[in-house]
Amino acid sequence: MERFNFVFVVAGLGCFALAFVIQAVLPMAQYSGVEVVTMEQLSQDVPYQFEQLAEDYPTEFAAAFPDADFPTMPEKFAEALKTGKGSYVAEACWHCHTQQIRRRDPNKPNEVSGVGGDIQRWASDTASESIPAEYFNEMNYPHLFGTRRVGPDLFRESGRHSNDWHLAHFWNPRETSPYSVMPSYRWFFDDDQGLIPNKRGLSIVAYMQWLGSWHTQFAPTKYDNLPDVTFFDETDYPEVLIEVDDGGDEYGDDAYGDAEEDY
Ligand code: HEC
Repeated sequence: MERFNFVFVVAGLGCFALAFVIQAVLPMAQYSGVEVVTMEQLSQDVPYQFEQLAEDYPTEFAAAFPDADFPTMPEKFAEALKTGKGSYVAEACWHCHTQQIRRRDPNKPNEVSGVGGDIQRWASDTASESIPAEYFNEMNYPHLFGTRRVGPDLFRESGRHSNDWHLAHFWNPRETSPYSVMPSYRWFFDDDQGLIPNKRGLSIVAYMQWLGSWHTQFAPTKYDNLPDVTFFDETDYPEVLIEVDDGGDEYGDDAYGDAEEDY
């Protein structure tokens, strides 16, 4: 009987040692040469949405991040990212959201939604799956891959919605997404109407807008970088509008006569 005990002890220790080598020693050796991007380095690229938060919520922003060196404020941004990620972990957002765009057959439709694979669903603007280099930074230590997808993947969240959309959504997800099962996070606000985001609120939005910003931060949605918008000249109105707009002969029959006859 004692011999059996001995065998079990050795087998147990052996399994432990093997697991330790495979899961800890080998990966450490494999990645020991990889340079990890520090918080200081990654916070140099401040996405424009963070500046927008400062512009749109000046009082709240000043209360949350005093003495911000507007508009370039990497230290404040780093602080917001850490606070935002802290909330993401503490509120267990990772229970429902993943942060990994997989390369599964992009054209294979999802059984429920009928949409294609990960790339088509959540990364269509970048058309790329997530790659190891995107995780080699302090913000991903530990990484937040997540395991379940009750909600959408968030690894390319930046720029998908505006700051205001996010705040409204955190206040009450069903205001923006009618059938949402996401809980509301009222403690991200200091009032009872969802108008005064506090430090946690501003930070979680900053974190959402950072995720994937390394791909999209030069998107044309930037306020001061809007593409030239050509407004309709009134003669350019599509014909279908003419009937609706044409209360009387304001524009004369000459210009639109033919179109009117068509209806
Ligand atoms: C119970 C599961 C659940 C939890 C917990 C949860 N969410 Fe969600 N989330 C969802 C669902 C479902 C949706 C899709 C419907 C919607 O837009 O609300 C969603 C949508 C989102 C979206 C919009 C994604 C997009 O691109 O449209 C963001 C951003 C988001 N969640 C962030 C968070 C954050 C941050 C937390 C934690 C503070 C969190 N979620 C916690 C389920 C959850």
